[in-house]
Amino acid sequence: MSSPFADVAIVPVLTAPTASAAVIAGRALQRAGITCVEVTLRTAAGVDAIAALSEHTNLFVGAGTVLRPAEVDAVAEAGARFVVSPGLDERVVEATRRHGLHPLPGVATASEVQRAVGLGLSTVKFFPADRLGGLETIKALSAPFREVQFVPSGGISHHNLTAYLAHGAVAAVSGSWVAPSGAVAAEDGQAIETAATTAVETLVAAGFRVPLHPEN
Ligand code: 3PG
Repeated sequence: MSSPFADVAIVPVLTAPTASAAVIAGRALQRAGITCVEVTLRTAAGVDAIAALSEHTNLFVGAGTVLRPAEVDAVAEAGARFVVSPGLDERVVEATRRHGLHPLPGVATASEVQRAVGLGLSTVKFFPADRLGGLETIKALSAPFREVQFVPSGGISHHNLTAYLAHGAVAAVSGSWVAPSGAVAAEDGQAIETAATTAVETLVAAGFRVPLHPEN
């Protein structure tokens, strides 16, 4: 299964207190030109939010903070199309594949990248990116793991997303800065649209084709 993440540029991380707040945020992201959203299971509304976004938006909706195989079953039922975890758990990857969804497990070390490669994965989340040395660490890891694509997450913002995306080993960037939790909880779609529009405009100004990753 090919990775869809190279086509989205930005994977917003959305943590919503209610499904309706998630839909308001998702519609705002969509108005800004964002095509994808990762809904975390950090609130009790996570699974319902995935179902609501799948029904009411055209976004490529995935689940985040997925820690257990049973959660994969729940988010698959809700309509998630990809499954993100902070770390690498073979059981979660296997459950994700069983449902025909895209796994995006997190890695932080060369050993974890190697385990991911051993599982046949070619795209992994790099988390928490800023605490692990950011782009310089991705460059170091991509030297031996030449076929691996990274989705850095943790500390990404308007200030560094183009630097990450300009590197050939970076498939997309991920983070909550385009859907700030305060704005999501306040159901402030305008604030989310403004943050997401700034992100998209930053990419366009840097010469990236949005939402597609530049071909180079
Ligand atoms: C996460 O899963 O928490 C993401 O890495 C988001 O990190 P951020 O809030 O620093 O963007």
